[in-house]
Amino acid sequence: MKILGIETSCDDTSVAVVKAEKKKLQVLSCVTASQILVHQKTGGVVPEVAAREHAAVIIPTLIAAIKKAGLELKDIDALAVTAGPGLATALMVGVETSRTLSFATGLPLFAVNHIAGHLASCWLNEKIPSLPALALVVSGGHTELLWLSENPSNHSWKTTKLIGKTRDDAAGEAFDKSAKLLGLPYPGGPQIARLAEKGQPIIDLPRPMLNEENFEFSFSGLKTSVMYYLRDKPRLDFQARANLAASVQTAIVQVLVGKTLKAAEKLKPKNVLLAGGVAANEKLRSDLQNALPKNGFELFISPQAYTTDNGAMIATAGYFQFLNHQKSHWQTLKINPIWELGR
Ligand code: KG4
Ligand code: ZN
Repeated sequence: MKILGIETSCDDTSVAVVKAEKKKLQVLSCVTASQILVHQKTGGVVPEVAAREHAAVIIPTLIAAIKKAGLELKDIDALAVTAGPGLATALMVGVETSRTLSFATGLPLFAVNHIAGHLASCWLNEKIPSLPALALVVSGGHTELLWLSENPSNHSWKTTKLIGKTRDDAAGEAFDKSAKLLGLPYPGGPQIARLAEKGQPIIDLPRPMLNEENFEFSFSGLKTSVMYYLRDKPRLDFQARANLAASVQTAIVQVLVGKTLKAAEKLKPKNVLLAGGVAANEKLRSDLQNALPKNGFELFISPQAYTTDNGAMIATAGYFQFLNHQKSHWQTLKINPIWELGR
């Protein structure tokens, strides 16, 4: 079965073809048109601008993905599209494209939750996770701990339950906002990570909610601390800036790792998953790996190539929905910009 996945929820127009044979998933193509250069001019995503960019490139991206997979449209068996959460007008570009395609070709259509897509990217490794699993999803808009349960009839992941989430800023947002204060370009996560390599985490920044007995997060205080630090020391040299970047990264990673470890110890999943754009962060990947007990829960991280938004993760989640008979229809499919997974 070959599934075409379409993602336009934020600032990446991405289309992929994933081939699924029982438990074996293979990405045949994944073509992404990034809008980073456009949004760098404004230091962040302007929804209207993002939607216009998606509309301009969605069809060429779609054609390129099918061609790169060595296929034609008639070879595709199903369509999957991000229907939410995300920017309304950006989501509409992908959803309307998929509805039109489904109408014209008769192909089945699967409306995918963007966070479910990030989770599904953990199945794009050689070895696949066992369920139930505890997942940490960390992106520009979300920081969530989720519980994934199995459909015993086909052993695929079927249901998701929200364990905890951020009360304010997401982890990616904390990276992006701290980077902006440091004068680094959008998106700030990779910029902070690069600068942090040259510094030491010696600046005392808060670890919000780390020691509270719940699985909630809060990152907005971190950005405020960075703001006050820079207000009091406005002329930092390169080394001091690198130390601040390293301190921001360490504070965010310690909270994420600490809370995930606590949830894993309490809930005892078979596996732990890490996904979302911030999962590209090398320190988060290695610190979480080192923190989990060696003979306890095996960690599955989405492959580097599929951590930030992409069509392959949407096609993969669409395949799980196909297995679980969770189909949509082009006549009724609508965007859901505030679609919350696991509630
Ligand atoms: O999942 P994603 O591509 O888009 C959303 O769904 O939001 O995540 C984007 C986020 C941005 O906040 C970006 O700064 C962050 O992921 N990010 C990183 C790294 N690469 C991307 N954060 C920390 N370290 C990285 N290496
Ligand atoms: Zn995302």
